[in-house]
Amino acid sequence: MTDQAPTPSEGPVPYSGPDRVLSGVQPSGDLHLGNYLGALKKFARLQHEIPTFIFVADYHAITVWQEPAKLKQQVREIAAAYLATGLDPKVATIFAQSAVPEHAELAWIFNCVARLGWLDRMTQFKEKSGKHKERSSVGLYTYPVLQAADILAYKATKVPVGDDQKQHLELTRDIAQKFNNDFAAPGFFPLPEPLTQGPGARVMSLRDGAAKMSKSDPSDYSRINLTDDADAIAQKIRKARTDAEPLPETAEGLEGRAEAKNLVGIYAALAGKAEAEVLAEYAGQGFGAFKPKLADLAVAVMGPIGGEMRRLLSDPGEIDRVLTDGAARARAIAAPTLAEVKALVGFWGA
Ligand code: ADP
Ligand code: TRP
Repeated sequence: MTDQAPTPSEGPVPYSGPDRVLSGVQPSGDLHLGNYLGALKKFARLQHEIPTFIFVADYHAITVWQEPAKLKQQVREIAAAYLATGLDPKVATIFAQSAVPEHAELAWIFNCVARLGWLDRMTQFKEKSGKHKERSSVGLYTYPVLQAADILAYKATKVPVGDDQKQHLELTRDIAQKFNNDFAAPGFFPLPEPLTQGPGARVMSLRDGAAKMSKSDPSDYSRINLTDDADAIAQKIRKARTDAEPLPETAEGLEGRAEAKNLVGIYAALAGKAEAEVLAEYAGQGFGAFKPKLADLAVAVMGPIGGEMRRLLSDPGEIDRVLTDGAARARAIAAPTLAEVKALVGFWGA
């Protein structure tokens, strides 16, 4: 038995369709500063440059147990965060993944394109499944295949995400390339690029400069949540782990000082400046002087976001209208892609 499609004789043909941006966040906990700087902040900027599709990844969220009574509200919270961080529903298409079933249908086809060996290499599965791999859901294992379907259903070319998602983007490119080869459809799917540039691509925990800031960290002091009020933000920054040295003049001076580097990176990302500019301003100062400045900046940027989220969530009608409208607009793109894919695969009725 062979499990290989015939090898095409020609080399890869580049994709020639329009650029599109796509990204999503799972509704599986409170959003934090890392999510904002690594992902959400970029969405709002990109929407004015390239057609942008941003969704709430609720199919992905159920790869680990989610309380059914809470899931809808969690989806609304992520949608509120999108709106509060500047996504405009008249410009960007904002929707819930489960409202566009084409994602799941395409994921099934991609499950048959992706190879077990590719998924075995995924580090996020290893981290999330921990010591009890055999008790993880099958969905958690094939999670990156669904992610590839999210992206390629829109033939998206650019995917704004934090650094930790690079491996999933590589897998997406492998799937796109293999699909194009296997089904003799050169250039059918683009090979999408992650957009991870900038100082916010990997925000670290405020308690441990070696760990990523994450919603799953048991300590709330490790992260700044989008919904934290001014006092909480200032207190968390005051308590953030640092060292006793003053800030150096250049970025090289931050090597080996993970906590210091993280706070400088956060400042730079929040201020929209380069690390070098921040160091030029604060070189020679200790954290006793730097932390209050960082706290003021974080409160100024994050405070209004939390306030707007609370306002939006007090009337879910507005959010629900945005998601309903977005789902219709998303399907108008994803459904024709899926129809083309089904015809290429050779399905009856396609
Ligand atoms: P978490 O790791 O907290 O569960 P998600 O996996 O839901 O967060 O990530 C949502 C988005 O935020 C992704 O694009 C991810 O790359 C980005 N992101 C998550 N944590 C960070 C971080 N600490 N720094 C920068 N970006 C991050
Ligand atoms: N896996 C992403 C995360 O953990 C969320 C996600 C799902 C995503 N589908 C996507 C991100 C498609 C970008 C594009 O954060």
